[in-house]
Amino acid sequence: MTHDNTRLNAHFNNEDSNTSGNPVFDSVLQARLSRRGLLRGGVGMASATALGGAAALSGCATTGGPVAPVNTLGFTPVAKTLADQVTVPPGYTARTIYALGDPLSASTPAYKNDGSDNGYGDRAGDHHDGIEWFGLDATGRPSDSFASRGLLAMNHEATTDEKLSSFFLHANGGTSTLPRPAAEIDKELMIHGISVVEVQTDGKAWATQNASAFNRRITTMTPVLIHGPARGSEHLVTRHSTDGTAARGTLNNCGTGRTPWGTFISGEENWFGYFFRDAKDDDARKKDKQVQALNRYGRKAGAASRHGWESGGASDSYTRWNNSAIGASAKDDFRNEMNTFGYIVEIDPYDKTQALRKRTALGRMGHENATFARVSAGQPVVAYMGDDSRGEYIYKFVSDAKWDPADAKPANRLAAGDKYLDKGTLFVARFKDDGSGEWLELSMNNPVIAGSSYFEFKNNAEVAIFTRLAADAVGATRMDRPEWGGVNPKNGEVYFTLTNNSNRTPATTDAANPRAYTDMKAGKEQKGNVNGHIVRLAEKAPHDAAFLWDIYLFAAEAGADKAQINLSNLSDENDLSSPDGLVFSKATGICWIETDDGAYTDQTNCMLLAALPGQRGDGGSKTLKHGDRSVTTHVGKAQTPATLKRFLVGPKGAEITGITETPDGRAIFVNIQHAGENTKMADVNDPAKYESQWPASAGYGAGKRPRSATIVITKNDGGVVGT
Ligand code: FEO
Ligand code: CA
Ligand code: CA
Repeated sequence: MTHDNTRLNAHFNNEDSNTSGNPVFDSVLQARLSRRGLLRGGVGMASATALGGAAALSGCATTGGPVAPVNTLGFTPVAKTLADQVTVPPGYTARTIYALGDPLSASTPAYKNDGSDNGYGDRAGDHHDGIEWFGLDATGRPSDSFASRGLLAMNHEATTDEKLSSFFLHANGGTSTLPRPAAEIDKELMIHGISVVEVQTDGKAWATQNASAFNRRITTMTPVLIHGPARGSEHLVTRHSTDGTAARGTLNNCGTGRTPWGTFISGEENWFGYFFRDAKDDDARKKDKQVQALNRYGRKAGAASRHGWESGGASDSYTRWNNSAIGASAKDDFRNEMNTFGYIVEIDPYDKTQALRKRTALGRMGHENATFARVSAGQPVVAYMGDDSRGEYIYKFVSDAKWDPADAKPANRLAAGDKYLDKGTLFVARFKDDGSGEWLELSMNNPVIAGSSYFEFKNNAEVAIFTRLAADAVGATRMDRPEWGGVNPKNGEVYFTLTNNSNRTPATTDAANPRAYTDMKAGKEQKGNVNGHIVRLAEKAPHDAAFLWDIYLFAAEAGADKAQINLSNLSDENDLSSPDGLVFSKATGICWIETDDGAYTDQTNCMLLAALPGQRGDGGSKTLKHGDRSVTTHVGKAQTPATLKRFLVGPKGAEITGITETPDGRAIFVNIQHAGENTKMADVNDPAKYESQWPASAGYGAGKRPRSATIVITKNDGGVVGT
């Protein structure tokens, strides 16, 4: 969430805590690493691959037959607009179905949307982000093919705020000074996290089912089990869990994923901003190595917290947000509480009795999503992940366990998660100028890690908890804010959005992050990689140590210089800025691209585009001039409206976040986050001054305060969306 140049919370989100000198590193050690060859699982490509996740291509949907991947985008592109509404192509209808505060139980009152509401444990959370569909059949059993009844599992990342307070949640905007009232904090603790809500269609209109027994809220307070190598680590010991095996809650949940065994994955992104650290905490910790890690993860001594939750009183629901060493030992305070966040978490969306599991083997960072490679019998399960801060890295996890196709429908879904996600190896990407790259192992098996003088790693638990430091040590490539990853179901190629990077300068450009330029917005200069790009990786097999890469797409304004900036030949039908969400449709093969932009918002609100990508290497190379330097990069084929087209523009101030679909592709669900976020707290009770009144302005719900929401988009003729 939160584009680079927003006025809100710039210091809490997407920090520049990577002060490593990467990509400058020891070439001898790297040469040794590069000879390690295949990572694991033997040699050779899998001969038979299967789609991970929903079996959409072979399903028998109730509202239409199986859908073949499409070769054309069959809709009229939507023009850029600053209108405060959701705009979709002619022939399509978008309807809001699930907004902040909507009831998740039959006994919860309707949302008044005036700051007086409570009971958020049974209401939709705020700032809808990544979203995934989990089908149900007519009898309420899990189904990969049924298309008229299902569960939507989604992240509630954050809240629209100013000066500590989540002002739209409180009657008069709330308290913007410390200490903050416990009653305000209690609401804010509950609107973060995850929700699961049942939806159904009667063939005419989709609606949430507020009495469904599947409905669930997960918040900052929900019980958590620590799984993987960090379980029981001394660095996870807190007053709440003196053996470091449990924790509470999930926070700043951003991207999502769906495992090949049918569970929901959520990434914890900008969690560090919620913690307070005392100005003298470095001394209190006797400057141990945790201080280096705290700095690397964005919490210097004296850091203020985003909402002041630590100020709510003596209960540890508040004191846990003070990450300072103030007790006699780690068992007496919450100095390690921050180490319990920053993971990929897994839930079984069909079973709300099961605790959330933090999968520490997948590393600790500003996680966006996790996207799974196509699984193959007898081969490891592989997941790709981005760490979204300026100059952070792209990672992949390779399981120890080999894929058993019977696990596509396991008796116990979270036990399958234990099998594939608790034991394995994490790798980080190094991009080479020649268009190749390598995955560098992050474990004590790597002599660079075991012998590191940069940070003294004792064991793999420390690699799992202090992952960014391990990635620094091996010389990973610093990227322009890695956001969502997606795997093309047609050929297995892996896409990562790199949303933008205001820190990229002409001197620090490299082949994989080749642009640093100046763009004007309302008379002001914006510098760096202003508009972002999308990198694409091709591997012989998902567990291979080597890859080839190119830059599939350079986001840019249509009118920008085609030699230096608009390298993908974008036009008015498809120009965009700051790609963030990226999801391949399993029904159609369409690559959906969503933006979280603050750079082009003088001319258009954020948007959703549909793409039909080719393959890595389909565009050749280009050389960019940066003063005396030149950088040669590897580019995808130039775009036309036939291969990339704008499908939706959102309301004012909103980011377009998650997207998912029914297995037949006839309905897509899209999350619209933080409409009206540039509203001033002082105007909280003056709707005329709201930046946006969406979705009330579209006829949804009470009150006029803007609300994050899920919309459903269908084609008026009942056809497959995007075709
Ligand atoms: Fe929550 Fe990186 O977007
Ligand atoms: Ca995002
Ligand atoms: Ca501009």
